[in-house]
Amino acid sequence: MTQLLSLSRAARLAGVTRADLQRRIRRGEIQTFEGEVAVSDLLRVYPSVSLEKTGMLEQVERIKADAVPRSYDGDTTLPSPEVLVSRIKSLSELLVQKIAVVDAQEELLRELRRRLVDLNAATPPPETVAGLLDWLDERRAEIASRPVDDGRTRLFAKDTFLRIMSASVKMIPSGHEFFVDGTESILEAAVRSGLRLSYGCSSGNCGACKARIVSGEIWKIREHDYVLSEREKQMGYVLTCCNTAVTDVVVEAAEARSVDDLPEQEIRAQIRKLEPESDALMLLHVQTPRTQTLRFMAGQRVRLTLETGASAELPIASCPCNGRNLLFSVRRGEDAFSRDLFEQASARQMIGLIGPYGDFVLHEDATEPAVFIALGDGIAPVKSLIEHAISIDTIEAFHLYWSVTQPDGQHFQRWCRALKETLDNFAFTPLVGAGAGDVLTLLRADLPRIDAARYYMAGPSAEATAVRDGLLGAGVAEERIRVQWVD
Ligand code: FES
Repeated sequence: MTQLLSLSRAARLAGVTRADLQRRIRRGEIQTFEGEVAVSDLLRVYPSVSLEKTGMLEQVERIKADAVPRSYDGDTTLPSPEVLVSRIKSLSELLVQKIAVVDAQEELLRELRRRLVDLNAATPPPETVAGLLDWLDERRAEIASRPVDDGRTRLFAKDTFLRIMSASVKMIPSGHEFFVDGTESILEAAVRSGLRLSYGCSSGNCGACKARIVSGEIWKIREHDYVLSEREKQMGYVLTCCNTAVTDVVVEAAEARSVDDLPEQEIRAQIRKLEPESDALMLLHVQTPRTQTLRFMAGQRVRLTLETGASAELPIASCPCNGRNLLFSVRRGEDAFSRDLFEQASARQMIGLIGPYGDFVLHEDATEPAVFIALGDGIAPVKSLIEHAISIDTIEAFHLYWSVTQPDGQHFQRWCRALKETLDNFAFTPLVGAGAGDVLTLLRADLPRIDAARYYMAGPSAEATAVRDGLLGAGVAEERIRVQWVD
């Protein structure tokens, strides 16, 4: 029987991103069977599966971890002893079942051989039975002499190891999949993977993260004040913020699909850090209370209000996979917000957040190459989009063009270079003083088909409009271009 693996598990075993696997599927190098891939196909395309080398996927995980500080820093590598014991127990049960099946098949083969020998002893022996006996003996000898350390064995060793270290979660009805690592709750793992489940306090008080476990085993990692009714418990409802996955589980829960599915939230947060990039630019790190994380989609904005009462609506420059630690870049200007931030604000002061707003978000179901164009400070929402795109891991290739007016104007340069060095499907073109015409000339030169990509562009309205008009003139369909004005 063909052994099948889900795309997420196959990518993790091969040490590649899901986008890489999907690219090979689209090229016809790997076949899928109802969304799953065969072990034999995986080993054919990635023959060097080993426990030691997890390749690009591991590098991507490192980038994601570096990109945003986690709200649950600490030991997230090793699951708790209780979860480890449960996983080992469930794997042992699986192993016992498999051994029982193999033993039964061995017994069947022995019985078949005995019967064939008896039949062969009859006079005169049927020729076909003698031939069958020879064939059976040859096959058994061949199977017994196979080297134990082949690719398939290594793959199953790695799969067993990964099943002990993490469990996979499949969401229905969306079909999204992700892994729960270390001591994470199901909710934390879902948010880290870019999913937008409903939640509120993250600590078992509000009940907003309630979801139904359809199959698989879970483990309660913290007590909760919210009370589930007996009927809910019987139906399999749990709080995803208070439970982790022991075995692979299927969870039924609604996910926000568009900006309209996210409620407006009002949060009293704190300035975690003010990081001057230059005399004119400040990076503002904001942290929400542990029990009130901001739910937003990458590319959206919020209204910030300082203790002085000055407020401004700014794009969030960080990934929704960490809604507790938010990043903004603020340019010094004539407005009261930037003046007060530069001259009066300090770490640990309270700051009000209301939002999220805006629909400059990713086409998450689109897999074609994505081109991100940041003009000046338009990098903030674009950075958020790119980090989210890496989290959901479905886009085939990314290219970031970032044009600034001054040579030292690229304040997220280190972040861009780290992505470029790590992801083989990410390209970065820094530009200084490039106009709309220059950007379009570059796009024509870099892209085999300018009309086949999706475009996400943010920047001052005049420049962004000029680039958008140029793209439309070059034959790019309007629905493939998303623009955010940052004036
Ligand atoms: S998010 Fe509030 S109970 Fe889970």
